Amino acid sequence: MSSSRFDDSDFVRACRRQPHERVPVWFMRQAGRSLPEYRAVRGTGSILDAIADPDRAAEITLQPVRRYGVDAAILFSDIVVPAHAVGFGVDVVPGTGPVVERPFAARGDLDRLRPLDPGSDTPYVIETVRRAVEMLDVPLIGFAGAPFTVASYLVEGGPSRHHERTKSLMVGDEALWHELMDRLADLAIASLLAQVEAGAAAVQLFDSWAGALSPDQYRRGVAPHSARVLEAAGETGVPRIHFGVGTGEILDQMADCGAEVVGVDFRVPIDAARQRVGPGRALQGNLDPAVVLASESAACDAARAVLASNGGHPGFIFNLGHGVLPGSDPDVLARVVQVVHDEGRVRCE
Ligand code: CP3
Repeated sequence: MSSSRFDDSDFVRACRRQPHERVPVWFMRQAGRSLPEYRAVRGTGSILDAIADPDRAAEITLQPVRRYGVDAAILFSDIVVPAHAVGFGVDVVPGTGPVVERPFAARGDLDRLRPLDPGSDTPYVIETVRRAVEMLDVPLIGFAGAPFTVASYLVEGGPSRHHERTKSLMVGDEALWHELMDRLADLAIASLLAQVEAGAAAVQLFDSWAGALSPDQYRRGVAPHSARVLEAAGETGVPRIHFGVGTGEILDQMADCGAEVVGVDFRVPIDAARQRVGPGRALQGNLDPAVVLASESAACDAARAVLASNGGHPGFIFNLGHGVLPGSDPDVLARVVQVVHDEGRVRCE
């Protein structure tokens, strides 16, 4: 197990299901989106430019910690940064998401996914992690996109509702699919190891769109690759979180990929999720981000229901069931943090 100055934080202790008093809380996509101070420093142009500027990226990483008093920061970056950095040709369009000029379509496209050398390809990520960690008094979470979710952008060419091209490749040319997934797993591993080396105290693997798959598709096409990423990240000793949306039917398999923590979206109550993943894992989730838009009292009531569903279990990190939605009121999110801190107690086992 690695030791860092954050080993005794509520967040790291909750990831490891170790005793602590207060339920820790942070929000996926807490940096950016709803904060006016984000818009003030974000600048115009592609988000990739802001990510490549450690001054701005470290500041944006810190903003939600100052504003909300959350128990962890998440690196300001994006899941497509490694693919962009090796020259695949990805941009991120505000309000839309990642777009690819020449989508992945054939074997020859593998050549556009050479290995990542974080020191020379993404020195700005390393620098941002270092600076943020130096300034933070809570753990920094590093992250990567899981091979499937990144593949879906590269193959579809942009955000997709049905992931039809991705699934066609997965079932139509299994050999090429696995080679693509291997390359993307290598990118994720290199990126995660560099972030931990620079000071990240935990990592999250975002497989946001894994819920688009049947259990059998997930088992054959995806799980082995995500497991390889998590295994490599596990060598560092920092806790690992594995998250996707709409994953109720594959939560057991996601848990088996090896992370200490399984992220749960808002469709599955925490107590039901705990049955599905078994006793050896912590859970993270799962307030519906849309409820934050409803009203402060609705959000606080829903937060209390999430805490109740956890029932004081020590292996629990409070989060949203997916990322902060644009238009969320920062004051409501701040109140949710307060409710979790005031009322989220961990029972002694
Ligand atoms: O969590 C954080 O606040 C830290 C930074 C972070 C970003 N993207 C910055 C970002 C993280 C962890 C991500 C992960 C990410 N990126 C995921 C997985 C999480 C999830 O929401 O499921 C995915 C699927 C992406 C791909 C992506 N990037 C999309 C779909 C979008 C567009 C939609 C939108 O407006 O959020 C982006 C752009 C992006 N990445 C923004 C930010 C702050 C937004 C806008 C901008 O300023 O250009």
